[in-house]
Amino acid sequence: MEHVSVLLNESIDMLNIKDDGIYVDCTLGRGGHSSEILKRCTKGHLYALDCDKEAIEKSIPRLQKIGENFTCIHTPFCRLGDVLDEQGVAGVDGILMDLGVSSPQFDESQRGFSYRMDARLDMRMDLSQPFDAWQLVNTYSQQELMRVLKQYGQEPYAYKIAVGIVTRRNEKPIDTTFELVDIIKDVLPQKVLNKKGHPAKRTFQAIRIEVNQELNQLQQALEIGLGRLNPKGRFCVITFHSLEDKIVKDAFRKVSVPKKVNKRLPVIGEERVDYQLINKKPVLASTEELGLNRRSHSAKLRGIERRGEDYEEESKGQNKKT
Ligand SMILES: C[S@@+](CC[C@H](N)C(=O)[O-])C[C@H]1O[C@@H](n2cnc3c(N)ncnc32)[C@H](O)[C@@H]1O
Repeated sequence: MEHVSVLLNESIDMLNIKDDGIYVDCTLGRGGHSSEILKRCTKGHLYALDCDKEAIEKSIPRLQKIGENFTCIHTPFCRLGDVLDEQGVAGVDGILMDLGVSSPQFDESQRGFSYRMDARLDMRMDLSQPFDAWQLVNTYSQQELMRVLKQYGQEPYAYKIAVGIVTRRNEKPIDTTFELVDIIKDVLPQKVLNKKGHPAKRTFQAIRIEVNQELNQLQQALEIGLGRLNPKGRFCVITFHSLEDKIVKDAFRKVSVPKKVNKRLPVIGEERVDYQLINKKPVLASTEELGLNRRSHSAKLRGIERRGEDYEEESKGQNKKT
């Protein structure tokens, strides 16, 4: 299936693109967001990253139809700082992240992301990475499996599923997605199997997050990216589940909310914060988009802006007064 970009207009508007700015799309995918950035950034430059080589190969021709002022880089986005250093870029005017897997990754059965298609257990976004879902399922201890299922899948039956996996693999390795689905179905109580939603959904989400180190990558890239924003530069992130959204929310809060002043001390001015939230509440998909794209149902967009020089001048003035 073709990838339909989520919250496309909302995220592009939020980036407030300057025609001569420097932009980074950390999650190129099939180039949906990057194309819109490039259309607006006619004199600047776009750096587009993806850890999936196929995403890079497929997107380059699409972007070339719009302009030449872009560079696609095959890398995980936790290397954002190194990438910018290698490119000789000190600061950027906007960063976008549209997290998770793309529709082509999900729909290509051999990538092993889907519990609805039989394939070797894989789930790597970056095929050059040696560690995959097969290794996780066949080598993690019962304790480690439980930790992954609880932490990243919020799976209430983590213990039963972990025991099921270890018992089955003692007989023979667990090779495929359907073998894993069968184990999950065997250990879950009937009342859970009768519920709406696929019984393997939480387990597959958890394994995917661990295999791709999705939350660690996100945490690192947020810190690096915030530090690289130019004054008035913006960082916009689209997330697809609560664990991702919490990380983004907390990282943005940390740099935009002044620390509480000790109430017992005389107030001599507010703590200076260099960033401000663009939206306090996340932007969600419109009713129209919800009707058109299933992936948009769980999407949340948050954005933050680095304060400009006017704020620095203002706060210098305030500090002099106190
Ligand atoms: C939802 S898709 C992006 C779709 C894109 N915005 C579009 O409109 O076509 C997410 C993409 O980010 C990539 N990705 C996910 N995590 C990544 C990471 N840590 N580093 C680099 N790329 C990553 C995936 O390989 C995938 O191609």
